[in-house]
Amino acid sequence: MINCQLITSLAEARPHSHLLARHACAQLPETALINEMRAQTGVADTRFGCAPFARITLLPEALWQDSLTDGLVTALRPLFAAPVSESLVIDLCDIHDTVLGQLLRFLFNQAHNLSDLQLKKTDGSAVRIRHIAALCLPEQRERLASIIEQQQAVANGMIAARRLADTPSDRCTPQYVVDEAQTLCAAFPALRCEVLDEQQIVGQGLGLLHAVGKGATCPPRLLAIHYDGISDGPVRCYVGKGITFDTGGLWLKEGAGMYTMKYDMCGAANVLGLMLTVAELNLPVRIMGVLALAENAIGPDAMQPGTVARACNGLAVEINNTDAEGRLVLADAIAWASQRHPQAHYIIDMATLTGAVVKALGYELSGLMTQNETLREQLTRAGIRSGDEVWSLPLDARLKKQTESTIADLCNTPTNNAAISASAAWLLHHFCPPMIPWAHLDISGTALWREGGRSVASGRPIPLLVEHLLADIEL
Ligand code: BES
Ligand code: MN
Ligand code: ZN
Repeated sequence: MINCQLITSLAEARPHSHLLARHACAQLPETALINEMRAQTGVADTRFGCAPFARITLLPEALWQDSLTDGLVTALRPLFAAPVSESLVIDLCDIHDTVLGQLLRFLFNQAHNLSDLQLKKTDGSAVRIRHIAALCLPEQRERLASIIEQQQAVANGMIAARRLADTPSDRCTPQYVVDEAQTLCAAFPALRCEVLDEQQIVGQGLGLLHAVGKGATCPPRLLAIHYDGISDGPVRCYVGKGITFDTGGLWLKEGAGMYTMKYDMCGAANVLGLMLTVAELNLPVRIMGVLALAENAIGPDAMQPGTVARACNGLAVEINNTDAEGRLVLADAIAWASQRHPQAHYIIDMATLTGAVVKALGYELSGLMTQNETLREQLTRAGIRSGDEVWSLPLDARLKKQTESTIADLCNTPTNNAAISASAAWLLHHFCPPMIPWAHLDISGTALWREGGRSVASGRPIPLLVEHLLADIEL
């Protein structure tokens, strides 16, 4: 974890820090170097002649106000590929609130590195950021301190989720996710894990989760994490798709498309991360996080196209396409959550569910599908405030034909390849009783971000969901 402290004068900065500031930062010394850097229009960056700093980077005013395109973080990312100092000084005197949150999360997330998985020999000489001094005005101190504490907790949840998601799937099996979750949750007395093993999954009628997981040598699990920040009151539920690897099943994916499928458990990882953040912030709420964990493998026991399996709410689903497995495990997990808490305040599920959502919305926006206008508004606004945005796709009975089956109650994929993301959401809606407000987030485009030319887990949409939860508690 990176430690962060507020300062109100550059004189308090540690020597040999990397200073990041606005061109107009009033605290910068009036030296020839600074004047020359200020004269540059874009990002001005130097490592020479800037003592007592090791490096000075001046970033244009517009970036500190740009809440739309992630401009500040995009400009910083290459600078942090090889840090020159373990201490940063960062000018927070005049920054848009959304950008502030994004910036702090970006910086705190530097504590996670793929090399931490210890799968690669490193000589240990690479400089890591360990300390941040946040420069502000005296009157900003109190407010900033609480924002920093909050974003630190968000980043910690993101890091736990990212680390788990980045772990290759030969290690990261359903049981491994359970073990890691139990270890991480043990740090917080308000968190409690409840695990369903394969026998209990069958026993409790979660036939869809079982159908997906039974082809693998590592059996499926359902993990429920309970957080009781108060002893009484409505329970908020989050459900995550946890496919530890998605081969597509007998409807096998081709190699290139399969390559990133260890990340098909990002939904589940992010539910875990969210629970850890909430516990760290000690929020006075009750939450249940449900992780639907299975590997979608090929093998003699793998589900076959045409298999009909029954969910724990009694609905039978024809499994046309074994590669549309996410909606199956989610359907069971949503139904299970709603049976566990019939009075749930809401159920929000998140899943790398369809490649089609990337075609529709790209890599910046998560797809939001809901029939509950309150949840839609709240999540949309929380997205804008946090900079972890969602965009709505339509979800209503016009999609009915997309889930019709001649042999079962529902069919897992339409044959027409139309409205793929929304059709998946329409299938899911059958598994949440209408009394419970429900929203579905398709995070195929946002659960990963590019780092050093490679896709790695992003921890999204944890920032969105924390922002949403905080606003929902205050209502
Ligand atoms: N896990 C994939 C979705 C996915 C694809 C996420 C690419 C991220 C990148 C999901 O299980 C899947 O295979 N979906 C199918 C749905 C189709 C069979 C209706 C897809 O998107 O092709
Ligand atoms: Mn699939
Ligand atoms: Zn999948």
